[in-house]
Amino acid sequence: MPITIQPYRNASETVLDQSRRDFLRKMFVAGMGAFCAPRAFAGINAEEVVVDPHSWALFADTHVAEDLSLRALGVNMAETFQQAVGEVVGMATRPGGVLINGDCAFRTGRPGDYVALTRLLEPLRNHGVPVHLTLGNHDDRSHFRAALPSGECSSALGDRHARVIETERANWILADSSTTPIGEGRLGPEQLAWMQEVLDAAPDKPAIIYAHHNPQDGYTEWSLEDTEDFFAMVAPRPQVKAYVFGHSHRWSIDQHESGMYLINLPSTAYVFEQEEPSGWVNATLLENGIHLELRCTDRTHPKHGERIELQWR
Ligand SMILES: [Fe+2]
Repeated sequence: MPITIQPYRNASETVLDQSRRDFLRKMFVAGMGAFCAPRAFAGINAEEVVVDPHSWALFADTHVAEDLSLRALGVNMAETFQQAVGEVVGMATRPGGVLINGDCAFRTGRPGDYVALTRLLEPLRNHGVPVHLTLGNHDDRSHFRAALPSGECSSALGDRHARVIETERANWILADSSTTPIGEGRLGPEQLAWMQEVLDAAPDKPAIIYAHHNPQDGYTEWSLEDTEDFFAMVAPRPQVKAYVFGHSHRWSIDQHESGMYLINLPSTAYVFEQEEPSGWVNATLLENGIHLELRCTDRTHPKHGERIELQWR
């Protein structure tokens, strides 16, 4: 399993069973109103929430620092992260979970960075939203593990954190491209073999691979060192519909020659190029594709609210 932060409620209360999911979806489609679920905490005023199990909030490069007042490239990372978390919590229809795609910590993955991060994630836990995290080149596994309650970090791949989140419309394959301390990204032969096994076990199920580092593009530093091996494995497997990554702090959608989408998530924190948006992406899985909506930190950014629908290959 990767690093997962469960909400403050029993599993039986957080996971909607299939029939309830179908019911929810039907309610949305028919426009008949909203299914109401109780708020996570007893003792808190009753709150009616709608959860769309097909919808996922995609975050990347949060770069939260121990010092909550710290700024980098003109941005207070704690503030922008809190804004993104608050936006998810405040949604009329909440996603099934939040996926944070690496570089969770500021620069070197100090223990205090993760203490701050987990503290800033509390609103999601309080509202019953699970959070899954991958690791980036600015993260430190041992420090993150130490900041989490015991039992929430374990791995089937030795020191690497990888797992599959199965959903009705697609499997999210969360992979670990981190080679901390800071350096190139690499999935490695063992993880690629695991991924292949997972993919071959479900040849008809759309799969989205989710890891921090971007494929090699000739100009981004510390990109995925074994891009060639990765593409050689996934391209001939048509069930792989997209590779979703962060790292470059850019928002872009490209396509591999195989038809697989390459989705580069923006950072919730700072950007390296002024025109790039920061923020997060509200992703909704469709029957044969995905709908993406960009939520910019700066709501006056021209790309704020951009909506893109992709059809799977
Ligand atoms: Fe980053």
